[in-house]
Amino acid sequence: MAEAEGRPLRPERGPDGRVLLVTGGAGFIGSNLVRWLLARYPEVRIINLDKLTYAGNLENLRDVEANPRYEFIRGDIRDRDLVRTILPRVWGVVHLAAETHVDRSILDAGEFVLTDVYGSFVLFEALRLAPQVEAFIHVSTDEVYGSREEGFFSEEDPLEPSSPYSASKAGADRLARAYNITYGLPIVILRPSNNYGPFQYPEKFIPLFTTHALEGRTLPLYGDGRQVRDWLHVEDHCRAIDLVLRRGLPGEVFNVAANNEVPNIEVARRIVNQLGRPESLIKTVPDRPGHDRRYAIDCRRIHELGWRPEVSFEEGLAATVRWYEAHPAWWKAIKEKSGEFKSFYDTYYKDRR
Ligand code: NAD
Ligand code: TYD
Repeated sequence: MAEAEGRPLRPERGPDGRVLLVTGGAGFIGSNLVRWLLARYPEVRIINLDKLTYAGNLENLRDVEANPRYEFIRGDIRDRDLVRTILPRVWGVVHLAAETHVDRSILDAGEFVLTDVYGSFVLFEALRLAPQVEAFIHVSTDEVYGSREEGFFSEEDPLEPSSPYSASKAGADRLARAYNITYGLPIVILRPSNNYGPFQYPEKFIPLFTTHALEGRTLPLYGDGRQVRDWLHVEDHCRAIDLVLRRGLPGEVFNVAANNEVPNIEVARRIVNQLGRPESLIKTVPDRPGHDRRYAIDCRRIHELGWRPEVSFEEGLAATVRWYEAHPAWWKAIKEKSGEFKSFYDTYYKDRR
């Protein structure tokens, strides 16, 4: 990893030999992070606090569950008493637990406010009582800035979220800042772009389209399909979290994206082409309400800290599609568990026409 340029070197605190709490560790990013940290740091110990909502899945962590350096606690971040018993045990926290799907937030926003905003508040309050915690990484999202057609948002830009999901994340993001400023808590905020990779719940765009294509089902492309997301491979995100754990300073905010802006229609085409399926599987459907056109962030600050993405979208997407192809048992179990697995388009639009 490149060294920081033009910036004073920070103490590399590092999680090795320490105890880290990962909230939401049974989800997509959390499970990848837990695995990545255990492999990278031979003496790190990890506590995974997860409620196991529909999105939490212990299958994501089967390969590490017997590791003596890993501990799973099933619980809710909103449980003040539970959280208060865990925080005094740890050196650092990576806070990922959240309700995360924009489409679900449009159907029912309540859990988003309760988990993303209130749950984060409970963690910040518990942090006040745990002065030995040296690093708290609050994982926000680039969606808090809202949409923009041209140019890039910097960390100083105002937050103008447009979905109940991104508004809930923005509420938590601003609470994180307030708790840093008011109480001097060691909170660093990350605002990553859309992640992709293995173990992503198949309601999200890339795994939904990949697994539907594998099943020969049609792929519901919202609106004109020209919306743009900047795709970040989950392992590059893990590397960014690790770097910020070691070198981020309390109160800092970092955008994280990999400069892979691709319109949705192009992502959809690449998926079906790789799988040897016809492009006619892709069907445009009515647009998502309030659909953000483009997310785009300026990542100079985390570049200066020493992070660069290592996975190109071409390689990362191809490997991700291969992963879903090679792990049908994983995603079929999820689709079967949720009954006849339905995308937002199926549940929202079709049923309302
Ligand atoms: P995910 O939906 O796959 O996983 C969320 C996890 O949180 C699940 O394991 C779930 O059981 C757990 N959880 C939910 N509510 C909880 C509660 N009240 N208490 C304890 N655990 C609870 O999400 P993800 O994609 O892994 O995202 C993780 C974090 O990263 C979220 O904060 C999300 O906003 C943020 N983020 C995600 C992306 C992305 O593209 N996936 C991009 C930017 C930011
Ligand atoms: P998603 O994975 O839900 O992430 P987000 O909305 O948080 O960016 O969707 C990524 C993009 O794909 C977004 O522009 C919406 C679009 N999309 C579809 O066109 N069809 C779908 O079925 C889904 C789930 C998403």
